Amino acid sequence: MKLAIRGGAPIRKKPFPPYKTIGKEEKRAVMEVLDSGVLSNYLGTWSEEFYGGPRVRKLEREWADYFGVKHAVSVNSATSGLYAAVGAAGAGPGDEVIVSPYSMSASATGALVYGAIPVFADIGDDIFCITPQSIRNCITPYTKAIIVVDLFGHPADMDEIMEIATTHHLLVIEDAAQAPGALYRGRFAGTLAHMGVFSLNYHKTIHCGEGGVVVTNDDRLAERLQLIRNHGEVVVKDKGTEDLVNLIGFNYRMTEIEAAIGREQLRKLERLLVPRIEAADYLSERLRSLPGIIPPVVRPDVRHGYYVYALRYDTDRIGIPRGQFVSALKAEGIPMVEGYVEPIYLEPAYQWRVGFGRDGFPFTFPSYRGQVNYDRGLCQVTERMHYRELMYTNVCHAGVEECDLRDVVDAFIKVFENIDELKG
Ligand SMILES: Cc1ncc(COP(=O)(O)O)c(C=O)c1O
Repeated sequence: MKLAIRGGAPIRKKPFPPYKTIGKEEKRAVMEVLDSGVLSNYLGTWSEEFYGGPRVRKLEREWADYFGVKHAVSVNSATSGLYAAVGAAGAGPGDEVIVSPYSMSASATGALVYGAIPVFADIGDDIFCITPQSIRNCITPYTKAIIVVDLFGHPADMDEIMEIATTHHLLVIEDAAQAPGALYRGRFAGTLAHMGVFSLNYHKTIHCGEGGVVVTNDDRLAERLQLIRNHGEVVVKDKGTEDLVNLIGFNYRMTEIEAAIGREQLRKLERLLVPRIEAADYLSERLRSLPGIIPPVVRPDVRHGYYVYALRYDTDRIGIPRGQFVSALKAEGIPMVEGYVEPIYLEPAYQWRVGFGRDGFPFTFPSYRGQVNYDRGLCQVTERMHYRELMYTNVCHAGVEECDLRDVVDAFIKVFENIDELKG
């Protein structure tokens, strides 16, 4: 069969099914909020409403119970959740926060927002999370916290990372935005560190438009998160809070509408996650035999969350650059993306070292005594994954059927069978 990129008929002629998870339950829940007339019930004063409206609080209780943690603090995005977590951790000017370079930018910007310096540890080339050894290499006398990302839904090596943190007295924030429902040694991703952050934005396994939840078993951190979420500075006096570091607050409050949707979505989490895993397993079983295609690794004792299905591509074995292979797949009608996001340290804020103001704060802050490096080549595995090896598709989700997945496999096989045509 002639390759579509050479003018042949594509394997896939129609779009893949969209990810649609909003049903009558969510609609009913939203209508109840609208009928109540109270779309958000927060008050930025020391009162019961300081903690939000009834649905916000129910979502938090249900989230905490589901994930088996003491506290769940809802926020209006995982970005806000990460910022609040960095604030709660007490990181500030002069401190360093170790973070993954291969993630959505917000995994690192929380440190900058609090005037701390993100230090990028490299990832491993199997599960794409920062490795314990790369974290060790980044620890300095200025390190305050570590932000670990469970990239694409696979939990990082959390036990070893928590041991490192204990040894060095560091706080760990687990960015589980992409990993709700993923499991690590029988425990939920997001609950494996001092704080864990989930996202409820539209692209995630469960969503409510925009939203996030931070979980913790630590009463003090939970209190700090709640204060940062809702203009903390105005209530600390009445509340009797004594440690004021980083408690200048924001408005990170979730509305009643989002909470109502979030509650329904949480009930569906398992039902929405299992089809992702089944679809990913289907692809992995069939793509594994193609020489040079490396399906996602799943460590023993882990349940992958499959935010996306990310594979590795071996150019030397396959004989054409990844870009050409991906273009051929796309021409066959398969949504496939080269790399993920550019390594964060290559973004202008880091390259130019401009955070806030005109003097390069926090990078130039006099009480910062470290020496951070953001040069190209800093995280070699990350750069190799991004620029040469990694590619992903987002077709593994509920609503996609075997015939859809078969098209993905057939397209890979077709490109392989005609690879010589693409060479030279
Ligand atoms: C790993 C990771 N962290 C944080 C975020 C930020 O999530 P939100 O859009 O809810 O702010 C995302 C969103 O894509 C993400 O993938």
